[in-house]
Formats: sequence, C-alpha cells, structure tokens
Amino acid sequence: MCGIVGYIGQKSGVDVVLGGLEALEYRGYDSAGLALVNDDGGQVFKQVGRVNGLVDAVNTEHPASNLVIGHTRWATHGTPSLVNAHPQSNNQQTIFVVHNGIIENFAELRERLQAAGYNFTSQTDTEVIPNLIDYYAKQLPSFEAAFKAALGDVHGAYAIAAISTDEPDTLYAARLSSPLVIGVGEQEHYLASDPAAIMAHTKRVIYLEDYDVAVISGNDVDVHNLKHNRHAKPKAELLDYDNEQALLGDFPNFMLKEIFEAPATIRSATLGRALADRSLVKLGGLENVLGQLKYIDRIVIVACGTSYYAGLLGEYLIEELSGIPVEVHMASEFKYRDEPFSRGTALLAISQSGETADTIAALKKVEDYGVLRLGIVNAVGSTIARMTDAGVYCHAGPERAVASSKAFIAQTTVLALIALHLSNGNTKLFKPLLDELDALPAKAQAVLDNAGRIKAIAEKYARHRDFLFIGRQYAYPMAMEGALKLKEVSYIHAEGYAAGEMKHGPLAMIDKDFPTFAIAIDSPLLEKTISNIQEIKARGGPVIALATQGNKSLEQLCDDVIYLPHTMHETQPMLQAIAVQLFAYYIATARGFDVDHPRNLAKSVTVE
Ligand code: G6P
Repeated sequence: MCGIVGYIGQKSGVDVVLGGLEALEYRGYDSAGLALVNDDGGQVFKQVGRVNGLVDAVNTEHPASNLVIGHTRWATHGTPSLVNAHPQSNNQQTIFVVHNGIIENFAELRERLQAAGYNFTSQTDTEVIPNLIDYYAKQLPSFEAAFKAALGDVHGAYAIAAISTDEPDTLYAARLSSPLVIGVGEQEHYLASDPAAIMAHTKRVIYLEDYDVAVISGNDVDVHNLKHNRHAKPKAELLDYDNEQALLGDFPNFMLKEIFEAPATIRSATLGRALADRSLVKLGGLENVLGQLKYIDRIVIVACGTSYYAGLLGEYLIEELSGIPVEVHMASEFKYRDEPFSRGTALLAISQSGETADTIAALKKVEDYGVLRLGIVNAVGSTIARMTDAGVYCHAGPERAVASSKAFIAQTTVLALIALHLSNGNTKLFKPLLDELDALPAKAQAVLDNAGRIKAIAEKYARHRDFLFIGRQYAYPMAMEGALKLKEVSYIHAEGYAAGEMKHGPLAMIDKDFPTFAIAIDSPLLEKTISNIQEIKARGGPVIALATQGNKSLEQLCDDVIYLPHTMHETQPMLQAIAVQLFAYYIATARGFDVDHPRNLAKSVTVE
C-alpha cells in the first residue's frame, strides 16, 4: 500500500528518496511522487505508474536538495492520477505533505477551509493537511505549532511527512495507527513507513508511537507525544534485517523465489524451538507469559487474507493437540462484533507484515479487556509485534511478492509449535510431530523438485475462467488458501469449499469448463473425498487431484494428479501450500501477469 520515504542530511536527498521508493515498490501502488526544498524554494515531481517513470522525470532536471519527501500511492480517495498523487501541497505551493492512511473527517475540514478561501484541486483526503497547516501557520508563531494544531483537527489514521520552504532545515513527521520509523545516520536522518526503504543506508531506527510528532534535523530528533504531552529524545534500536534476502538473485520474480524458500523457511521457523532430540518445544517469545498461558481456556485468532487461513489451520492444530477451544475471526469482522470475552481468553493476532490495519484494530479493541494479547508476526519490530504482550516471530525473512507464500508456511509451522507448546506434552503426537517437523524441509524440497510437472498441469488449465478447490479437515483451509492464491495472481474466479459441502450448492456449477482442484491426500477421510470427486466426474467436471506419493488410485478417476510426499496430517498443509502456490504461480505466468504486483492489491493493507 502507500509508502513514505524522507531524508534530511548532507547527501542528495533526491537519490536517497528515489532509491527508497524503489525499495517500496513491492508493496503495490499506482503512482509516485516527491517534493524537495532547497535555496530556490520547493519543487514537486509526480508520475502515474511505476517509480522508474518518476526517476526519469526527476533525473532530466537534476534537482539538488538535502530535504526531500517521497511517496508511493495506492488510491483510496480519488482515482490514480497526477493530481491525486502525493505530495499534496497548500495553495501557495510552499508546504508539501505525503500521507498514508485515511483522514475520516476530510470532507468537513475541506468545507471549513473552502469557506476560509482555500482551493482544492485533488479528490484526496490528504490535500486538507497542507492547507490546514497553512491556515494555522498564518495564526501561530511557528510551523511546528501549526503542524500540531492541524493534527489536532484531523480524525482517522495517518503517517505523515511534511516539509516547508520556510523551514529548509527541518523534516516534520507524525503517526497515528500507521507505521513510521526514523532512520539514524551520521549527521542525517531518514524517514520511512517501512524500514525496507532505508535499509541500504542504516539499520538504526527510532519507532514512532501513536500521537508522536517528530521534529527532525540533520543532527537531532525531538519527539513530542501529543496524547501524553511528553517530550523525548528517543534512542535508536538496531534492526534485525537481512538485505541479501530482499534481493532477487537468479529468480525471475519474488513470488517464485519465495516459494522456493519453503524448506529454509520451515528450518528457520523451527530452529532452536523444535528440539526433537530433547522432546522439547522452546518458544522464547512466550516465556514472559508462561504463568498466564496456564489459565487460558479459549483462544480467539484474528487475521486477514492468507494469515486468516493460517489461523483456520491453527484452530485445527491447537484444538487437536492441546484441547483448548479456538475461534478464528477475520479481523475486519471481529472489530464490530459484540461477543462475550472472559479473562481466560487469549487473543492471537497473525500477520506477516505486522501492519494490517484491521488486525491492529482488533488488538486495540481488546486493549481494556485485560486479556492476553499474542502475536505471530513475520516483520520484526512491526506495530503488531510491539503492541502484543508476547509472541512468536515467523523468521521467514522479508516477503516481497504481494501474494503471501513462504510467510504462510512459516505461520503454519509456528502454529504447530504453539499447539505443541500448549499441549504441555499431553498428546501422543508430541514426539512424532517434532520428528516430522525435522524431516519436513527435505519433503518440501521434494515438492519443489516436482515443479516442472505442476507447471505442465497449470499451463493446461490456464485458460479456464473458474476453479473450485475442495478438501476436508486440514485440507479445507488449504482449499480456501489455494483458491485465494489463484484469484490474487491469475485473476481467475476460484472458490475454496469443504468437500462435504459440494452437494449443498457448488455441484450446480460443475460442467466441462469448470475444473476442480481436489486435495485428496491419504487419510481416513480419503474415501469420502473420492466420492465427491466421483460426483464431479459424473457431471463432466475436470479434476486435478493432490494425492499422496504411492497412491495410484486417483489416476483412473482424475484428469491429472500431483503427488506429495507422505507426511502427518498436521504437517500436510505446509506441503500442500507449496503445490497450490506453484499452481497459481504457473497459471498466472502462463497468462502473462506480473505475479509480484497483482492489479488492485497491496502487500500491507494499512487502511480499513
Ligand atoms: C494483504 C496481502 C495478503 C495478506 C493480507 C494480510 O491482502 O496481499 O497476502 O495475506 O494482506 O496481511 P498480513 O501482513 O496481516 O499477514
């Protein structure tokens, strides 16, 4: 989604900001822009489309500046267009603002400003901010005071960077419910909504908190928390981030690279945690809440998108292994429910980015309930990681492709570890599952080694318009995740269904043009799934089956079969995930789509 980059210091701020915007491209956006201030005043460059268009436009003019802010925009208010791209400015073009989030009362503020003589040219909510600052700057003694007064009027969620031609040595920033970090260099500071934008320059970062306003110069950062009226000179923290992992290497795109990282992902999620030889699960991130965990009698999982499907798998895993009842809610729905909540309930948020607005809102909702708030997060230091009482990091490394792949496998692996941990060893599956987690990376590699066959099958079905995914038990959430992956990257209509529900509706859609991807792995339920496949075949529907290596029984019945190595039911999802991800990937590439940046989607959904 939208991204912010800023720079103040001795270097060419233009180069720093353009480089930062390129690093944020993976998040998904539709336009980009930057504003700079130098001795000649201010200048704004904007482009619809890719950042390289902006780079070309800026480089033809070679502007020099040490104070620059930039933005990648993902349209919320107003279409993707030059006039709606950020930075937005005041009428005199002296104040420039970039903004992530939503100003909920922008219509009311715009009317107020129009009545005071201000003109508006864009359809964005953001345009009220520079004009509101301008309005207050005419009445108050300093830009800083005007910036704070403007923030006092806006309702909603924001990360904001602002610069003014009247203050060529200061960068202003503010955050409320939208991430923003300050990078600390030598006599210079960076600003970013995602540390990936500034990692090439510094790993020392200051995390801004809600209601913080930062006044930043080359040498100094002053942070004023408006809610608590507290001033601070915050200390920088060292970010644990591996630049290498964020590079493409020999892969054509990040999605394929990240799918192929599955074996390493399982290894790093279990490293030092799943200790099969000692029959032990060690989760350092939960150690400070061990006492509270003993009294948990219900777990509510909240998440969005792919993380939600990992949550559904978590429900099966935790209930089966630990006996603790689990409910899973889409974070966007959970926020608006009025359900009873006892002290014995723990809320578990699952998020790759740690910045998803709805998941953050779900955590905020229970802030005053006195319940334990846990997280399974991939992005270290992200908002969700910092606002939960305890949690387990996925350690999957940066995930760049918009559609999640390796993070899902890490989330599911971590959920298996948490389920084992909560079982206190009181399950006969404890040791076998630990041993299986040990063996899993090699089995994941075997699935990847079969990518050629999955590609051939995917290409055969690439021109279909609809797809059904079916499965039972652990394979049911996987059917939904398989359908989501296909929708996200190939734009094919796909639905994920519990195989047992086929007769209650979906069977009506089946004909020769409506193929089904059936997850039909060896299990006591296989016979039932085979019956469902027979019902589909009887109506002329093509079927691709995901089957267990060595079981040839599906070959007669199905049109195509993809084999997976044998593993426990509890670890099947990690292998099935690789197969459905590759299937979606190869269909999308056969259709010629940009798999890393699917249309209309964003990596990190920071608005409701
Ligand atoms: C977006 C992404 C999905 C992701 C979802 C939840 O929709 O495109 O891939 O699953 O957000 O994101 P989170 O970072 O909270 O896991």
